Amino acid sequence: QKGGYRFFMEKEIYEQSDVITETMMGRVVNSHIEFEEIESEFLQEIKAIKICACGTSYHAGLSGAYLIEKLARIPVSCEIASEFRYKDPVLHKDTLFIVISQSGETADTLEALKMAKSAGLKTLAICNVDNSSIVRLADRTILTRAGIEKGVASTKAFTTQVMVLWMLALYFSQLTNTLDENSRAKEIEALLHTPHALKVDENLHERIRRLSKRYLHGHGFFFIGRDIFFPLALEGALKLKEISYLHAEGYPAGEMKHGPIALADPELFTIALMPKNLLYDKIKSNVEELSARDSTICAISSQEFELADDFVRIHTWDHYMLEYYEMAVVLQLLAMEIAIRLGNDVDMPRNLAKSVTVE
Ligand code: M6R
Repeated sequence: QKGGYRFFMEKEIYEQSDVITETMMGRVVNSHIEFEEIESEFLQEIKAIKICACGTSYHAGLSGAYLIEKLARIPVSCEIASEFRYKDPVLHKDTLFIVISQSGETADTLEALKMAKSAGLKTLAICNVDNSSIVRLADRTILTRAGIEKGVASTKAFTTQVMVLWMLALYFSQLTNTLDENSRAKEIEALLHTPHALKVDENLHERIRRLSKRYLHGHGFFFIGRDIFFPLALEGALKLKEISYLHAEGYPAGEMKHGPIALADPELFTIALMPKNLLYDKIKSNVEELSARDSTICAISSQEFELADDFVRIHTWDHYMLEYYEMAVVLQLLAMEIAIRLGNDVDMPRNLAKSVTVE
């Protein structure tokens, strides 16, 4: 069943390149995005978007918020479902309510969806399981087509959720006319390259396996990134936490100097997401500050970074989303290799269930 892989998580990491192609199938047509699941009238009068989800799906949602605002210029907010439910949210009927869930059964996300529906909002689910409770309730659904995900630590569900959101951002941009032909063509070209960025390079995997032995102790990890690499940093930290049981935080790199940098010493591991195509000089100076305070730095980038104690080189891509996807694989592999060295059950980490159907 594991097809020669040590864990389902490993198999699912390796499957990402193929399932992302499934996610795009029939939805990229002549350099345009089409969703047969939604008609443009459904989106008429929509002035804003609210995304709601839990855990990894929330991190996908945050990534989607950056993409939709960048590409379609529609204001987006993204909230954790268990917070949203109890805060007496202000809901306007011209807001599209999007829920994201791998299982389609997460109790808090389902309840948030019910609230939005009863407030009269149009609702859209991004989900991996057809006929799940969330799919049955939402007005419209876009399936992620990742296939069954067995590992408790979500991997391929995450990358396909982000793909749907990226396509949705482009779809909205067609309606709002916010991208010129040239920019649209570049986006589509990058989108179609995603399976390459997600393909696991055996040498890269081996490099991560070898360096993982340096990261088995210490007093904590900071995963840092900027812009859309901030939610990816959150996801990297969650992945590590849930299967290695080591303390990890995801942080916006520019916020480190507002407090957390006080923790910096050689036992503080900084995993720095340093994309060439997005705010490289800004993140570089944030990492330099941490290095000057003696934090141990593991840099993930296509650009040589001389201050890194460890350096994971990714391919040179010309779009930040391709860097995002290859880095997502690096973070998944890093968490998995650390957890394996620590002797943990990667597929069934302690205290966790695949689907959280209680609030
Ligand atoms: O099925 P859902 O996407 O609604 O699940 C949400 C979270 O419970 C889930 O993403 C969880 O955080 C994963 N274990 C993360 O790997």
